[in-house]
Amino acid sequence: MTKATQLAHLLIRSHLLSQPDSHLLAIDATVGNGFDTVFLAECVGAKGTVYGFDIQDMQEASEKAMRQGFAERITFFQAGHEAILSHLPHDTHGGVQAIMFNLGYLPRGDKNIVTMPQTTISALEQSLALLAPGGILSITCYPGHTVGNEETVAVSSWASALPKEEYRVLRCHCINQNGMPPELIVVTKFDS
Ligand SMILES: C[S@@+](CC[C@H](N)C(=O)[O-])C[C@H]1O[C@@H](n2cnc3c(N)ncnc32)[C@H](O)[C@@H]1O
Repeated sequence: MTKATQLAHLLIRSHLLSQPDSHLLAIDATVGNGFDTVFLAECVGAKGTVYGFDIQDMQEASEKAMRQGFAERITFFQAGHEAILSHLPHDTHGGVQAIMFNLGYLPRGDKNIVTMPQTTISALEQSLALLAPGGILSITCYPGHTVGNEETVAVSSWASALPKEEYRVLRCHCINQNGMPPELIVVTKFDS
């Protein structure tokens, strides 16, 4: 797991565990092998729900969830996250406490199946409508490959333009590594 992903987990865990509500909702917008999905399922607790999206088969993630006893908390959609809003029940809109995007391609998978700037930005825009007041959205970006770099620039410029009266935006990346290490962008929606 990259350091950026670990940092995302740290922030999201602390946010979810501090919520008084027991019916927590979270979304993994890029399920892949399911590490983040299972992490979210653990954080939302027994009464919570996680919605997971990927355009690829999520068999491995689903088996992982089953093995760890979280299967009942997770609903998988084999669909692009650019359709995220239309897949979620209407009564969840504005009620999701945490949304994770871990962009790029699946490690050890097909590198041609990769998140793309245009669909990512559309999904991020829709995610804002799903996010609860006080909710957190994390985006791990991989600028070290061509599309990933283009996507990181697009995500960063999208996030920088969010209204400061409604959102706080954080951008973290390691500054003592060679090359272009992963970046974490975190958006929190102000309460009320
Ligand atoms: C870096 S991997 C995610 C890793 C994953 N979170 C994990 O824990 O294993 C990125 C994933 O995004 C998926 N993806 C690419 N385009 C997508 C899209 N439009 N909607 C949803 N998922 C997409 C890829 O299939 C890939 O599995």
